[in-house]
Amino acid sequence: MTETAKIESANGMDTEAGRSVIHPLYVRITHWINALAMLIMIGSGWQIYNASPLFNFTFPRNSLGGWLAGGLLWHFAAMWLLVANGLVYIILGLATGRFRRKLLPVGPREVARDLAAALTGRLSYADLARYNAVQKLIYLGILLVGIVIVASGLAIWKPVQFAPLTTLLGGYEAARFVHFFAMAAIVLFLVLHVVMAVLVPKSLRAMILGR
Ligand code: HEM
Repeated sequence: MTETAKIESANGMDTEAGRSVIHPLYVRITHWINALAMLIMIGSGWQIYNASPLFNFTFPRNSLGGWLAGGLLWHFAAMWLLVANGLVYIILGLATGRFRRKLLPVGPREVARDLAAALTGRLSYADLARYNAVQKLIYLGILLVGIVIVASGLAIWKPVQFAPLTTLLGGYEAARFVHFFAMAAIVLFLVLHVVMAVLVPKSLRAMILGR
């Protein structure tokens, strides 16, 4: 590692074509493709849910696809985009050491400290290159939920071919609930995440322009 790269990594910055950036190009591209794919998966997933609800409610009838078969077509099309894009983000995040640099370490003491600061309006967002402990925990958590939603999706899409996975998740019916609750966690994350992006608009600019 060169001296500049060492200093930048200590500052939480990435480098791109010799310039320091907050979010490298691959993070920005995969992030926005993921946002689009997730919205399509959620909208069409609600349509599929309506055909056989797990709970005593249904989603609006005008969810993506307009009807069960339409919802399934959208869901299976966006699935490839979501998985291929997610793999690129995870492989590059691991290979470049970005996950380790940006998301680790995260301990309960720092999370409690930063959560208390956030709830009392004392948390600083001055340095966008470093995530606070609450952000680290939430981003690691949503990565895990992303893996769970894909795994449970595979388990209910191909329960015969992926029989061990379906069994691991407690069977077909249980896997449907796992898939539903992972969706609910993503929707909750998305609402808080978009509120934060609106409250701290420079973080949105950095996720678009890199700096
Ligand atoms: C319209 C929807 C979205 C908007 C406006 C948005 C906005 C942003 C912004 C502004 C950041 C940088 C925040 C920061 O500096 O802390 C960010 C980071 C991130 N977002 Fe989103 N986001 C959206 C959708 C999503 C979705 C659907 C997911 C996953 C389910 C997601 C996962 C993440 C993750 C994991 C990061 C950290 C990325 C990294 O540093 O490697 N976002 N988002």
